[in-house]
Amino acid sequence: LRHLTTLENMPRATIERLLDRAVAMRDACAHGTRKLDLLAGRTILNLFFEPSTRTRTSFELAARRLGADVINFDIGFSSTSKGEELYDTLHTLEAMHLDAIVVRHKISGTPDELVRHAMSGVSVINAGDGNRAHPTQGLLDALTIRQHRPNFEQLGVVICGDVKHSRVARSDVHALAALGVRDIRLCAPAALMPGEHELPHCQRFTDFDEAVTGADAVIMLRLQKERMAATDLQDEADYFRHYGLDTRRLALAARSALVMHPGPLNRGIEISSEVADGAQSRILEQVGNGVFVRMAVLAEMLARP
Ligand code: CP
Repeated sequence: LRHLTTLENMPRATIERLLDRAVAMRDACAHGTRKLDLLAGRTILNLFFEPSTRTRTSFELAARRLGADVINFDIGFSSTSKGEELYDTLHTLEAMHLDAIVVRHKISGTPDELVRHAMSGVSVINAGDGNRAHPTQGLLDALTIRQHRPNFEQLGVVICGDVKHSRVARSDVHALAALGVRDIRLCAPAALMPGEHELPHCQRFTDFDEAVTGADAVIMLRLQKERMAATDLQDEADYFRHYGLDTRRLALAARSALVMHPGPLNRGIEISSEVADGAQSRILEQVGNGVFVRMAVLAEMLARP
């Protein structure tokens, strides 16, 4: 794996190898190994043009646990704020001999643009681009589901919320479909459902009660107001009534169904606190798995043979 910009068309064997490697990282950490030296001498740059708590911190932690040097590029204090072009920033940073750039950007396709314009052998890892892809989130969600429900072929997974603007939904669908999940249900109000040409292998629902019935995993999504047009905006109280996950709705899902959310949560808008903090919630487990998945990705791309 040279770059990681999307999970679309990634072979099942590659995804499984990354998940197995994440489990090996988790086991190593569980046995007290706080630091491996697989990436000693490597330098990784976090280049985040959008805010992040989980992804940025876990990439940094993952890189440090593998022995790499990490630079967190501060956009606000960089020459980007003086109008420097993205590609000039890229070439300037490459001249400092980086091994990998972890990039988040509001414009879909930016990581692939960096791959095309890079002049050195730097690896590019997508940490979320617009509404297009968030591949490490897709992997960590697949890992979280696999830990509890390894029989992917028999699973029903519902993804509910602002699907239209969600890079997480797209990467989750790509990962789960590659791993053999045949029953993937997307649920959203019509204004927040992507066009038919996107995510063609999923069933589509506007009625959440119908979509959630019998589901083995329920992945809730945040309303992404920062990406919405005026016509997409929802009345929040009305939205929770129709698309919020509360205990009544969760009872319609399969017994002990997994409750997931990539974060950050909007409590009382897409999920009740009772459910988010309840016994079926895997939300913090997702966060923990994020570190191991990112360790696996970095090791796969940058470890010397
Ligand atoms: N899930 C996720 O991408 O969270 P952050 O925006 O906090 O990184």
